[in-house]
Amino acid sequence: MIELTLAEVADVTGGTLTGADPAVRVTGGVEFDSRKVGPGGLFVAFAGERADGHDFAAGALAAGAAAVLGTRLLPGVPMVRVADPHAALAALARAVVDRLGSGLTVIGVTGSSGKTTTKDLLAGLTARLGPTVAPAGSLNNELGHPYTVLRAGPATRFLVLELGARGSGHIRHLCRVAPPRIGVVLNVGVAHLGGFGSVAAIAAAKAELVAALPAGGLAVLNADDPRVAAMAAQTRARVVTVGESPGAGLRATGVTLDRRGRPAYTLVAPEGSAPVRLGLTGAHQVGNTLAVAAVGRELGLTPAALATALAELRPVSPRRMDVFDRPDGVTVIDDSYNANPASAEAALRALVALGTGRRTVAVLGYLAELGEYERAGHERVGGLAAALGVDRLVVVGEPASPIHRGAGRQRQWKGESVLVADQAAAVAVLRRELRPGDVVLVKGSRYRTWDVADWLRESAAVVRA
Ligand SMILES: Nc1ncnc2c1ncn2[C@@H]1O[C@H](COP(=O)(O)OP(=O)(O)O)[C@@H](O)[C@H]1O
Ligand SMILES: [Mg+2]
Repeated sequence: MIELTLAEVADVTGGTLTGADPAVRVTGGVEFDSRKVGPGGLFVAFAGERADGHDFAAGALAAGAAAVLGTRLLPGVPMVRVADPHAALAALARAVVDRLGSGLTVIGVTGSSGKTTTKDLLAGLTARLGPTVAPAGSLNNELGHPYTVLRAGPATRFLVLELGARGSGHIRHLCRVAPPRIGVVLNVGVAHLGGFGSVAAIAAAKAELVAALPAGGLAVLNADDPRVAAMAAQTRARVVTVGESPGAGLRATGVTLDRRGRPAYTLVAPEGSAPVRLGLTGAHQVGNTLAVAAVGRELGLTPAALATALAELRPVSPRRMDVFDRPDGVTVIDDSYNANPASAEAALRALVALGTGRRTVAVLGYLAELGEYERAGHERVGGLAAALGVDRLVVVGEPASPIHRGAGRQRQWKGESVLVADQAAAVAVLRRELRPGDVVLVKGSRYRTWDVADWLRESAAVVRA
C-alpha cells in the first residue's frame, strides 16, 4: 500500500480514531488474517459467522500492526472505528487508486469462464512492461478485490483485476473501487445461472465493466460471442473486438492444435501479422490470449513482440488446464478447479486433441449453480463427450448422473460410461483401468473431483504398468 497516517485512514473511511495517534503511519500491508499482519500493517477486523476478527486484535498488535480497523471498541487498542468494515476497505482501496493516479493502469477482466486464467496471462504480460499487482488465484469479490488493490504501491504500474459477479451491481461496485481504464469481457455463459435467473441478466452484469470505462479507455470484447460483441454499444471507451470471426479487430487465423493440445495461430492486427505458438493447452486459450494481445497492443507492443510474449506465457493458478505426464506414461489434464458447460466443452475438446491416437478418459463431476438448466446442461456435456469420441467416461456422484445418461443417448458412440457414487469409487475405476499411454481429464465444479486429481498427481507408483 502507499503510506497513510491513521488520520488519513479515518478520513478516507469515515471512521473515528480511538486510542490511536493520528500521526502514526500505516507502512505495512492491510490484512484481515491476523497471522499475516506485519510491522506497520493495518488489521481489518471482520465479524464473521465463525470467528470475530476483533478477538485476534492482540495478535495483530503483537505482530506490529499500526492499528486495528473494526466496529467494536477494544479498550487499549489503537483503532479506526467504522460502521461497515467492507465499505471501509472499499473506500481505502479507492483512495489508494486515486493517489496513485495516472501512473497506474487498472485492467479489469470479467466473463463466465476464464477470468482467472486470463488475469494470470495478462499479469504475465504486463509484468514484462512494469511492476504489476494481480490477485493470487480467484480473489474477485467484494473482499478479495479491494484486498488486492491495497497491495498496489507507488512503484506499481499495472493493476490486473478479476471481476466476479454473483448478481447485478457487483461489477459496478468493483469498478467504483478501482476504476479500470481497460476492460476485457471474455464470454457470457450459464455459470451462476441459478443465482442470476437468466442469461440476459448475466450479460447485463458483465456489461457493467464496459459501462464503467472512461472515454479514453479501451473495451476488449470477444467478437465470437454475440452477447459480448453487443456490449460495444454500452461503452464510451474505444472498442477492439477479438476472435476468429472475420470482422474481429484483432484476429486469430489458421488455428491448429499440436499433439499436446497447444494452439498455434496467426495473429492478425491492422498493423501486421505474426505467428503465435502457445505453451498453453486447449483451443479456448486462443480467445484468452487474443484478449491479452489486445491489451498488450494498447500498451504499445507490436504483433511480433506480442507473439513472443504470448509464447512465453504458462498456466499459473492450479487445477486449470494443468497438463502433466506421470512416470507410468499416463497423461493427466487437471482442469478440476471449477466447471460449467462451456469450460467442460473446452476441456473435452482439449482432451481429444491431446488424445489423438491414445485412449481418452474423462472423469466428470457435478456442474454447480446451473439453476433450471441443470439437467439439460449435464446431459449436453455427456452427449458432447460421446460425440467427440471420448473412450471412457467416469461420472462422479448421483447429482452428475445426467452426464452419464446424455452420453448413453449417443447411439453411435463406441465408448462406455460408468456412474460411480463418489470420488473414491472413481479412483478405484482408474486404478483398475488406467494403462500407459492413456490421457485422463478431470473436471467438475470445485471440490467434486479434486480428490481424483490429487490421486492422479500423487499415485503414479501404485498404478500397474
Ligand atoms: N475462454 C474460456 N472458455 C471456456 N472455458 C475456459 C476459458 N478459459 C478458461 N476456461 C476453463 O474454465 C475453467 C475455469 O477457469 P478460470 O480461469 O478459473 O475461470 P473463472 O475465473 O472465470 O472461474 C477452467 O477449467 C478453465 O480451463
Ligand atoms: Mg476465477
